[in-house]
Formats: sequence, C-alpha cells, structure tokens
Amino acid sequence: MAASWMRGDRTPAWADLSAHFAASAAAFDLRAAFASDAQRFERFGFEAPHLYADLSKNWLDAPTLALLLRLAREVGLEGWRDAMFAGALLNNTEGRAVLHTALRAPRGTVPCSDDVHATLDAMLAFAERVRDTARSGISDVVNIGIGGSDLGPQMAVPALQAYTQPGLRSHFVSNLDGHELAPLLTQLDPQRTLFIVASKTFTTQETLANAETAKAWFLARGGRDIARHFAATTTNVDAAAAFGITTTFGFWDWVGGRYSLWSAIGLPVAIALGATHFRALLSGAHAMDRHFAETPLERNLPALLGLLDVWYRNFHGLASRSVAPYHQGLRRLPAYLQQLEMESNGKRVDRDGEPLPFATSPVVWGEPGTNGQHAYFQMLHQGSDVIPVEFIAVRDTSHARLDLPPALQPLLADQQRKLLANCLAQSQALMMGKSEAQALSEQAPTAAAGLPRDVLARHRSFPGNRPSTTLLLERLDPAGLGALIAMYEHRVFTSGVVWGLNSFDQWGVELGKAMCNGLLPRLDNGDASGLDASTAGLLRKLRG
Ligand code: F6P
Repeated sequence: MAASWMRGDRTPAWADLSAHFAASAAAFDLRAAFASDAQRFERFGFEAPHLYADLSKNWLDAPTLALLLRLAREVGLEGWRDAMFAGALLNNTEGRAVLHTALRAPRGTVPCSDDVHATLDAMLAFAERVRDTARSGISDVVNIGIGGSDLGPQMAVPALQAYTQPGLRSHFVSNLDGHELAPLLTQLDPQRTLFIVASKTFTTQETLANAETAKAWFLARGGRDIARHFAATTTNVDAAAAFGITTTFGFWDWVGGRYSLWSAIGLPVAIALGATHFRALLSGAHAMDRHFAETPLERNLPALLGLLDVWYRNFHGLASRSVAPYHQGLRRLPAYLQQLEMESNGKRVDRDGEPLPFATSPVVWGEPGTNGQHAYFQMLHQGSDVIPVEFIAVRDTSHARLDLPPALQPLLADQQRKLLANCLAQSQALMMGKSEAQALSEQAPTAAAGLPRDVLARHRSFPGNRPSTTLLLERLDPAGLGALIAMYEHRVFTSGVVWGLNSFDQWGVELGKAMCNGLLPRLDNGDASGLDASTAGLLRKLRG
C-alpha cells in the first residue's frame, strides 16, 4: 500500500456529509421516505452471493448514499481492498500482510496458494480419518482455544448442525475458568476423545492451562497415545511439539486470529462437516470475496454496510448495533461478530498513531430471535437510545436433513412460518411505531383500571423510525454461512479504512495480560505492596 493514505474525516466528502446531516439528514423519517418513493425497497435492496440485503429500512436516501460512496472513493477504499487481496503489508504495526482471503481462493489463483492447499488437503484428510469413527474410535472432539481460535468454530458448528455427522460430538472449551473444562471431562472417555489445541501463538494462558489439564486428565484416566488423541492447530509448531503434540496443522502470520476460521483453526468444523462441506464453506466465502473485489461500490454489499456503519456512528452518533439472527443455529454469531468488529475496529488512534477526533467501532451485541424479543426488544422499541438492528432471516429450514418422524414436518414448517412472521413484524414495528392517537383509540385489557387514558396512551406509544437491516439467506448451508461471514469481514474492513485504522492488530488486549502476570504471584504470597488500594483490598479478600 502506498505510504500516503487519507483518513475519512480529512476528505471533502466528510465535510459534505456533515453539512448534509445538519441541513436535512438528521431529521430523516423512514415512513415519509417510503411514502414518497414507491421504489424504495427495490432501490435499497442488494444482491450478493447467497445473500439478499434489504437496506430500505435504514436512514439512507440517494443523496446520502452518493456522499458515502464519494467518501469511500476519497479514502481510496478500492485501492486498499486491492492491496489487501494482493498481499500488501496492511497490518503496519506488526509488519504483516492480511491474506485470509487466500485461504479460500481456488488452488493456484493467489499468493501462498501452494502452502494453503497443501495444509488444507492434509487437514481435510485428517478430518476424514477422524470421521471414520469405526476405525478412529473417536466419538468426541474437544476444541481448546480462545478468541479467534474458538469463536469461529464454535459459531460455525452449531450453525451447520444439520450437516454434521451423527455420533460425533463437538465440544468447545475456551474459558480459563476450570468450570468449563472440568464438567466436560467427566462425560468423556479418553479412548474415544480427540483434543484439538488451537492457538495461533501457542502462548495463550487460557489455552495452555486448559490443554495441560486435559493432558493430565487423559494420562490419569489411562490414556497413552498422546499423538493419536491430541492435535494442534497453530503457527507455532515448535511450541506445540514442546508440549508433546506431534500432529499439527499450521498456518501463517498473515492470518489474523479473528480471520482464521478458514485456516487449520477450522479443523473442528472440518471434522464435524467433512471435507466436501468444509470446501463449500470456503467456496461461499470466496464468492463473497469476488463480489467485494469486483462489484462497483454502488452495489457492493460489504462496502455499503461498512459505509452505513460510518454514517450511523459518526454522523448520527449511534454507539451500538444489535444483531438478531432468526435461526437458532446462529446463536453464537453475535459473539463471533463482537470479536471480528470490536477487536478489529475498537481503536482510538489512526494508522500513524494520531488520536482520532471521532468515534470508531460500535458495541455489537445480540441474541437469536425470538428470544431477544422477550428480553431487550422493549428497549429497542421504546428506550431512549436508537439502536440499529440487523435481522438475519433464513427462508428454508434444514429439519428434513434430520432423522425425525415425518409427522413432525408440518409442525416444524408452522414454527418456521411463525418465526419469519416475527422477524418481519419486528423490523416493521421498529419502523412504523405507534402514535399516541393510535394508542388512545385502542383497548388494553391488562391496563390498570382508573389510569387516565392519555397517560396509558403515552406508555403504549412507540416513536418508530428506528432503523434496521434485514439480511436474507435462502438456507443456512455451508456456502451460505461462508458468504455471510466473509461479508462481515469485508464490511469491517470498509469502516476500518474510512476510519484510517489498522484493523488487524489488537494491542488493547496486552495491558491486562501483563498485569495478570504481575498479580499471579501476589495471589500466592499476599504481597500487596505498591498496588492501588482497590486492587490491594480485593486481593486480601480473595485470599480469605
Ligand atoms: O485476545 C487476543 C488474542 O490475541 C486474539 O486476537 C486471538 O484470537 C486470541 O487472543 C487467541 O490467541 P491464540 O490463537 O494465539 O491463542
């Protein structure tokens, strides 16, 4: 990448967006926008591989979009994108390329392809051997890893549960807290368990501690053959060997932890799904890569969503975005996106280390629908903050892939109809709201008797005009999931480029790690000297 670069707030387009916001866009009203434009749904609907995105319920109109696209061009988004795909050292603070896209590109088409495909072939061959349970004897696969070495597989395996092999169970252990690993161990048979120790660096405290405990359990329960029951996925093959693991699958420093699902870190996914479905996951992601690389920005879904994120964060001042997948399989998607977005773009200095005069990553959070509706949707509809919601709906179910009595299919189909109706209703309600006049004209059987009707109407009215995006997948299959996740990666890339960030380092996790190392011996020896009064006081209480 050229040494010179342009931060979003220093572009003419940013100034024009500010003026446009002050002049009219701050008062944008979705209901009026739909009333004045019969083509709004078509105008703000976008196709991408495996995905349809309805952006029409967002605070967007043609002038705003034109300015955002100008912003993208003035920061050189297309050049940055091309540089990423070409393997430029975009991660400037660590001097590394950012080439997770090479992990899902067809053989021979990108830099590092030979290494990537050699490892992929070896890993998939290993996965197939494990899946041959009659021979391997394995019934349980335990992935021990944290952050990017956990969240991707932990998200993808349940998402694609319908494609997994019956009789082969997947488990994920990430937390340093032994309350996660210990109860799991009580359910396992060492002769039938494969542990995968997943760590890019093979230095992570949580992962090494869990791996040590797992190894001690394995040996204490009569396990002998570590080589058969432990594998490692890491860039630090020597450290894995020093730990005693000889079956290793490597990857490279140009794969960021939170972008590593497609690498050897995907081994538990490959074991659960098999080689064919894992390759389909990669091909779906690759299709989205081509979309991002080749589609004009005007119709480029990740770019448009990244620009919308900037519009909401920096001009409307919205600090949060809620993700609501209406598919139980996507229950870990919000957690996955938290790392992807907040570890990538939760930064307060630009690429040159200059403090930023504007906000960056929003808080990303959520739960699957319809569960969230019965918890925090109250706040989304009537709370004092506006929080854009991202609905993810999946048209077709995968129930038919499961071994269930046929009589259940109509019942499950009915559940799916109700689920989709709920999803549509929530985005509709957020947008339409309900006026006090409407509320006044209604009966509310559960309202307190004697409460003045106008008071009740104020409680029962909804401001509306709350923005949302709906992403539609035809089905949650490996290719569709791959495309969805790659879309999010490129969206985060887009907003990171506009904000002038290095989205690929994570220095913010260092300080706590270092302080933990300093406190660890103090928990044993009780030495509180030099500590702040709160930490010293808590240390004393924890030592009892
Ligand atoms: O939390 C910091 C971090 O470095 C993440 O970026 C990474 O995904 C996680 O720790 C795990 O690191 P490793 O794969 O090296 O164990």
